[in-house]
Amino acid sequence: MENPFIYGERVTGEYFWDREQEVERLKIDLLSSQKVFLISSRKMGKSSLVATVLEQLEKQGIITVYLDLEKFSSYDKLLERYLNCLMKHEGPLEKALDFIKQLLPQLRPEIRLDEEGKPFFSFGLGRSPQGIENIESEIYELPGKISEKKGKKIVIVFDEFQEILDFNGKHIEGVIRSEVQRQRNVGYVFCGSKKHLLADMVSSPERPFYQIGPIMRLDKIPGETMLRFLKEKFLSANIDVDGGCLDQIIEFSRGVPHYVQMLAHRLWDYSVSKGKAEAGDVQKVVNELISQSFEEFQSRWGNLITSKKLLLKAISVSGGQNVLSKKYMTEHNLGYPSSIRRTLLSLMDEGILDKEDGSYFFTDLLFCRWTKDYVE
Ligand SMILES: Nc1ncnc2c1ncn2[C@@H]1O[C@H](COP(=O)(O)OP(=O)(O)OP(=O)(O)O)[C@@H](O)[C@H]1O
Ligand SMILES: [Mg+2]
Repeated sequence: MENPFIYGERVTGEYFWDREQEVERLKIDLLSSQKVFLISSRKMGKSSLVATVLEQLEKQGIITVYLDLEKFSSYDKLLERYLNCLMKHEGPLEKALDFIKQLLPQLRPEIRLDEEGKPFFSFGLGRSPQGIENIESEIYELPGKISEKKGKKIVIVFDEFQEILDFNGKHIEGVIRSEVQRQRNVGYVFCGSKKHLLADMVSSPERPFYQIGPIMRLDKIPGETMLRFLKEKFLSANIDVDGGCLDQIIEFSRGVPHYVQMLAHRLWDYSVSKGKAEAGDVQKVVNELISQSFEEFQSRWGNLITSKKLLLKAISVSGGQNVLSKKYMTEHNLGYPSSIRRTLLSLMDEGILDKEDGSYFFTDLLFCRWTKDYVE
């Protein structure tokens, strides 16, 4: 029997648990062509949620496009890929080329072959950055034109949307906003895990995306819900699981589905041949995962300045609540509140820490455990 737990990639179908309300809400918003901001901490399941929703919308005949902005080394490449994604519904490339010539007269793309020998639209080499600025609004306008021409709704997802800030972001925000808001039959999801960057985009009156649409925050999945899924899957393979094991997985994972799937996947591999999971097995699995990343954690740690090390060690041991209280600061010898605040912000910018309901936490729970157990 195949391992029923998957991590490290987007999950849908039987691997995607719970989230019924979120799926419904997002579907309703997108069917009415809203521009939704989907924000959560890392590994909470944003990409899987949108993949699930897109699958369902496609079945209803809606054209969907998904673009992960984390994958691009330059803005040209991003626009090029976006154009190709938008055009993939236009049939053969030659036909699509006619379509582009009609709709985007400035663009003049070439058809080239990618590494796998598949043809794609390229902007051609040597186009100056100013050249890109001339065509970008045409590309962002395209979904509206396609939906008009085809008489169909379109839904577009920009995953890790905050990455545009690395490419002259303020300017791009303005261009996207002005095109997107005119598209009555195109729904958008802008998602990402750099919560403060994204929240800033929609909540600051001076930013182009201010109040563009609903903000959806993806929360933890409750422990009891995940426990139910775990029990079901182990039971269906007749693996006899010691009661404490699954509770330990839930406790370690703190509501983050990625860690539940990761530990359950490993526990499954560990126990499937002996037909049972015994007390202590989850600890063994965690130790094994930590030892696999030991060198990476050491080098991550080695690159941190002392004030960050002190703070991270404190949070790994005592949690991230009330970090700025006198008691916490004295107990962990952290120095002045103003410098602690700066260090916290910097650790959040680097993606090492995150904050929820006033409490700071490690985004990487294994790194947290490593820091707690192996750093003096
Ligand atoms: N609803 C779910 N049911 C079961 N597992 C889930 C669910 N959502 C996410 N996961 C697990 O968490 C992992 C990470 O999910 P996903 O990549 O969707 O999260 P994300 O929020 O987009 O993460 P990132 O911050 O890295 O972009 C998945 O590989 C899967 O193991
Ligand atoms: Mg994601």
